[in-house]
Order: sequence, then C-alpha cells, then structure tokens
Amino acid sequence: MQLLHIDSAITGEQSVSRELTARIVGAWQASHPGTSVQYLDLAAQAPSHLSSDSLGFRTGQAAATELQRQENAVSEALVSQFLAADVIVVGAPLYNFSIPSQLKAWIDRIAQTGRTFKYTDKGPVGLAGGKTVIVASSRGGVYSTSEGGQALEHQESYLKVVFGFFGITDVRFVRAEGVGMGPDAKAAALANADRDLQAHTTVAANQARVAQAA
Ligand SMILES: Cc1cc2nc3c(=O)[nH]c(=O)nc-3n(C[C@H](O)[C@H](O)[C@H](O)COP(=O)(O)O)c2cc1C
Repeated sequence: MQLLHIDSAITGEQSVSRELTARIVGAWQASHPGTSVQYLDLAAQAPSHLSSDSLGFRTGQAAATELQRQENAVSEALVSQFLAADVIVVGAPLYNFSIPSQLKAWIDRIAQTGRTFKYTDKGPVGLAGGKTVIVASSRGGVYSTSEGGQALEHQESYLKVVFGFFGITDVRFVRAEGVGMGPDAKAAALANADRDLQAHTTVAANQARVAQAA
C-alpha cells in the first residue's frame, strides 16, 4: 500500500495539523504494516499558481518554451504521485475560512481531465476512485457544531467536494477545532482529534466503496 503524506501549514513546529498528519501516518503504518510513504511539504515546495505557462495539461498544446515544459513536468509529477497513492493524508489548516493557497495550488495541478476526472454526456465522472483520504483539519474557532459555523467554513466542505469530484468516496476527517480559544479549548480539541485519529486509522482503506459494492 502506498501512502502520500502532505502538509500545507506554514507554522512549522507550532503547527497542529503537521503534528496530526505525522501521528496519523504513524498510526496508519502501525495498523497497516508494509505501507510505504511518500512525503510532500507544500509549504516548503508548492507548485506556482496556475498561469498561462502551466495550462498545458488543460489545453493539450505542446510546450512552446522551456518554462512551459518545466511547468508541465511539475503538473505531471504531482498528478502521477497522487494517482499512485492508495491513501492520502492531507494536513489542511483553516486559513481565512478556506485551505492554504499552497494546498489549492496542488489541487489545481492534479485536477486534470482524463487523469482525475472526465466529462461524459451524463456529467462529470471521477477517475481516481478507490483511494482513502484522511484530512487533518485544524481550526482556530469551532465550526462543526452549528449550521452557521458549517456554512462559514470552505475547508473541509471544499476538500470533500473536490476529492468526491475525483471519485473518492472514502474521505475521513481528523479534526482539531477551537485551538485558538484558550488552553482548555485547545486541550479538548486535541482530545477530540485523538478520538478521530484512533477511529480512522484502524479501519481498512476504501470503506465507502466496499460498502457500496456490498
Ligand atoms: C493565515 C491564517 C489564517 C487563519 N484563518 C482562520 C480562520 O479563518 N478561522 C479560524 O477559525 N482560524 C483561523 N486561523 C487559525 C488556524 O486555523 C489555527 O491556528 C490552526 O491551528 C492552523 O493550523 P496549523 O496549526 O497547522 O498551522 C488562521 C491562522 C492563520 C495562520
């Protein structure tokens, strides 16, 4: 089994999501021996924003310049790495009600027609099904416990939509929310995340798909 471990927090050693992804990966390896891990630190090495030079995978036009060739190679490497993974552990802090722009830049590179999705006469179809995604979600405030809060966040909800669009039905969340609301709230947030972590790393990969097939 191949696991892709992704971090996107810019807060280094203070990062809650980085601590969580490291623990999720460790726990996953403990309960799924033989899992091999690739690591991608998007804060250290993010692809650039999509631009006219990196749109080759959408237009299908051959690279006309060295820059376009390099950008195409970046997109190809990222989408191949994603497609090769069975399990993807994504550190996704809540920044300004959404995900870090580095993580968005990665998604923009892997959202490729013919690789991760396609359009048919019946609408879009995901091409990357069969994977498990575990999102380590860290949030300063609390959003999950009220309709108003849920409407405000475009981080977990967005990731669920975009991975679902790629055909991934098994998207799990390990959530630490309220970490900016004082020491007691942070301790409670980390305890909740621990419970999510235990629940989500001991279950076999790709459960939603198995359930659908049954
Ligand atoms: C640039 C930035 C923007 C943030 N925006 C929000 C926000 O919109 N809502 C919120 O509840 N917390 C927000 N926070 C707090 C983070 O969600 C919180 O600190 C979380 O732990 C960040 O993940 P990390 O510890 O892995 O960096 C923000 C933090 C940063 C650094």
